[in-house]
Amino acid sequence: MKGVILHGGHGTRLRPLTHTGPKQLLTIGNKPMSKYALDDLVEAGITDIAMIIGDVYPEKVKEYYGDGAKFGAKITYIYQEKPGGIAQAINLCKEFVGNDKFVVYLGDNILKGGIKEYASTFNSSSADALILLCEVDDPSRFGIATVKDDRIERIVEKPKNADSNLAVIGIYFLTPDIFSIIDVLKPSGRGELEITEALQNLMRNGKRIEYDYVTGWWKDTGTPQDILDANRFMLDEVKRQIDGQVDSENSIQGRVAIGSNTKVASGATIRGPAVVGTGCKIEAGVYIGPYTSIGNNVVIRKGELENCIIMDSCEIEASGRLVDSIIGAGSKILDAHAMSPRGHRFLLGERSQVML
Ligand code: DAU
Repeated sequence: MKGVILHGGHGTRLRPLTHTGPKQLLTIGNKPMSKYALDDLVEAGITDIAMIIGDVYPEKVKEYYGDGAKFGAKITYIYQEKPGGIAQAINLCKEFVGNDKFVVYLGDNILKGGIKEYASTFNSSSADALILLCEVDDPSRFGIATVKDDRIERIVEKPKNADSNLAVIGIYFLTPDIFSIIDVLKPSGRGELEITEALQNLMRNGKRIEYDYVTGWWKDTGTPQDILDANRFMLDEVKRQIDGQVDSENSIQGRVAIGSNTKVASGATIRGPAVVGTGCKIEAGVYIGPYTSIGNNVVIRKGELENCIIMDSCEIEASGRLVDSIIGAGSKILDAHAMSPRGHRFLLGERSQVML
């Protein structure tokens, strides 16, 4: 079986974080979200992987993953000029897939527990596709399946009035039969070739789609809130591991992972679950609270943080408490209290968000 990871799209709902890179490289628990997809594929024994890259800094994807060897995979990059839909992206993989069965993993989907069992079920099945379903509160955001008498009856993309709350998650097990279906697909109302419509047409052509329910949690990380939720889920799995230099053991409470070359001064407190990357400096008086991920080479001189994602190379010196925040790489939050004239000072990029 081969693998395809979708790493294109524009990530508009995550701007400004996606002005300088594809959303799938945003980190959750200090790991790019698409790396969870890659790890799941490799764990299922699927190492021949195509990555669909788009027009938002595709070179950053290549720089991170390279040829895939360091992650146990062989990666082929396929360029998608414009985000014309998931089905359009899949159709670019015809040659790569050949006659093999394959699994398409949307690079912004995270599934706890991985895909090993589903992959082996599909490998030994004669079905033409296997989809995974998960109950959701807001069906209008997803492809929705209606199941009747243990069979998929219908699949609809983002229905306004859904008659089911079963989302089709972004991991699709397919055979090359899907290509001829996509070849004759027309763009939907939102101008995309929809995977859900391709699946619906596959059934219409008499092909068999099997389904399974996901048992653990699943997240489509489309919005900032989704990213913070996924970060919390991932940190729930973190184990205590201290590789850096900690001046006082009392500083580190509970399940905290600290990377090498990171220094935590005595008088700082880190309360897990939390992760701190490599090469960071956490100074005395700083409090890093539960469900916080701190990237690599971050300096925190002052401040209290809780339920936050601070990406690589940030500098923080805050008088107040930061909560529920996502701070993109290289950002600075500095203290203006002693400065004159008094007041907040901002240098914000387009579509930034500040809540004071
Ligand atoms: O997450 C599950 C949902 O994903 C499904 O329930 C929906 O049926 C499916 O259409 C999809 O909905 P989204 O609206 O969330 O799709 P989005 O446009 O966010 O794209 C999903 C991923 O695929 C994202 O990582 C970007 C990538 N992508 C998307 C398009 C449209 C591409 O690589 N190329 C594309 O042309």
